[in-house]
Amino acid sequence: MPEFCGIELDHPVVNASGTYDAIAARRVFGDELFGDFPFSAFVSKTITPEARAGNEPRRIWETPAGMINSIGLPNKGLDGFLAEDLPQLAELPVPLIVSAMATNREDFSRMVAGVAARDEVAAIELNVSCPNVHSGLIVGEQPGETEALLEALRPLTGKPLIVKLTPNVANPEAVAVAAEEGGADAVSLINTLKASALDPATGKPAIAAGHGGLSGPAVRPIALQQLRAVRAAVEIPLVGMGGISSGADAAEFIAAGATLVAVGTESFRDPQAGSRIAKELETEMSRVPARVQALHLE
Ligand code: SIN
Repeated sequence: MPEFCGIELDHPVVNASGTYDAIAARRVFGDELFGDFPFSAFVSKTITPEARAGNEPRRIWETPAGMINSIGLPNKGLDGFLAEDLPQLAELPVPLIVSAMATNREDFSRMVAGVAARDEVAAIELNVSCPNVHSGLIVGEQPGETEALLEALRPLTGKPLIVKLTPNVANPEAVAVAAEEGGADAVSLINTLKASALDPATGKPAIAAGHGGLSGPAVRPIALQQLRAVRAAVEIPLVGMGGISSGADAAEFIAAGATLVAVGTESFRDPQAGSRIAKELETEMSRVPARVQALHLE
């Protein structure tokens, strides 16, 4: 049973934020969903201070071995989330991690304080792939901005703070170090890679926002390399993700130093992928001694 930031989990496979709608899944599958819930903890879709409608369609475009998305963070806002979604997510049979984003420190602080005050929440993931409205800089691309944000948020809660790293930087390990120095309990990586595609029928951008983020097996070797670089730079636990589609993929991330792995794009193809990958991972870990060894060296 893995332990992550003081939280006991049944297995090391969680979902990547925004890739599995547990409330909709329960509507479709009913309480049967709880009998074989695909993840050992549930990470919510990112919430923002105010409600957002999200982007115009088209929001998703398939690419070879992956997909580009720009959904635009549709959500009910902090108050709507706390009133409507949180009570439903709290009924899931696994610990809840809430993903939050804001464009200035004051709003981020309000989000973290509001979410952390709820007993139903086990941990908070900070989505820092957003601009700071004051500086115009993407927080997660700047070690200084990331550290300053963590220093502002750290005193607000004793609950684990996980920083979701963007891969769209030359040195993600520098941002990871800044997060750790600011007081983060863990980092998760990678978020999606900046990407574009043109619709051959129109010659125009395939998704309405013009560009989006690439995920899926296409990004897996990049994710693994960034995870290795970050593992060498920080002591805090890592959640590894990026195109994980099988237990063998997950075992690579664990051997490279991840405590947990997250499944994202694969869940769109197979909503039970998390359970399958967790079972395959168990088999992988028991029959490949080198990987088990790597785990014990952690
Ligand atoms: C979205 O466009 O909704 C996803 C962006 C993100 O979570 O960073």
